[in-house]
Amino acid sequence: MTGLLVVGGIYVRDGRLLLARRPEGGPHAGLWELPGGKVEPGESPRAALGREWREELGVEVLEAEPETFVVEERADGPLTLLFFRVLGLAGEPRPLHGEALRWSDAGEALLLATPPADAPVLRRLLRDGGGRFAETERAPEDERRARSEELDPRIAGSEALGPAHALRFRKRLPGRAELLDGVLVATAEGPRAFVNLCPHVPVPLDRPDEELLSSDGRYLVCARHGALFLATTGLCVSGPCEGESLTPLPIAPSGAGWALERR
Ligand code: FES
Repeated sequence: MTGLLVVGGIYVRDGRLLLARRPEGGPHAGLWELPGGKVEPGESPRAALGREWREELGVEVLEAEPETFVVEERADGPLTLLFFRVLGLAGEPRPLHGEALRWSDAGEALLLATPPADAPVLRRLLRDGGGRFAETERAPEDERRARSEELDPRIAGSEALGPAHALRFRKRLPGRAELLDGVLVATAEGPRAFVNLCPHVPVPLDRPDEELLSSDGRYLVCARHGALFLATTGLCVSGPCEGESLTPLPIAPSGAGWALERR
């Protein structure tokens, strides 16, 4: 990816979305944005989100997953804004550098002045939530179930993987702080697993309620661009990242299903 990469976090509590006011003296001063900041060279987007929220809001992001992105064409090159959904937070957000925070419900958020890249994200959140902001934090029982599945190398549901069928999974690899989102797909050459992040901008190919596979089962499909990735190899054959590949994940049979091989 070329150009500047910026991350922002989406965090909703009691139907209210956390927004931060942009500091004076910079671009979009005084507008209300999803809190975040620039990704430093050599830093992963997820690590940048954690650092920004620690430094600016005094909280620790425990879990976050990529949600969507927006690209702005600027005179000095493209600016990609990658937005994460914050699933777990330790601490109470407070503005450590004097800028204001607010918790906005749907009605207020639509009236606030936001930077151009944030506005479509807010509208999409409201559309997905049926006119409200859906909670982003996982409920305790969902959290417990998700934790045990994340630590188990077996891929839930893989026993029933039929032809032209794909399923998503989320795993926590030993020694890695970040969660790994993956997709297991049945192909004519046997099952394949890939990291579910586009090579072009690190967001999942799909959205939770959307299909990952083309109707003939040959391609994984990017929900945003209709880009096509060969299910057998992960190679993008059409779309913005043509010629690049999804990252393969080693799998091995486990009982009647499949498990991630841990190296
Ligand atoms: S996000 Fe990369 S092809 Fe759509």
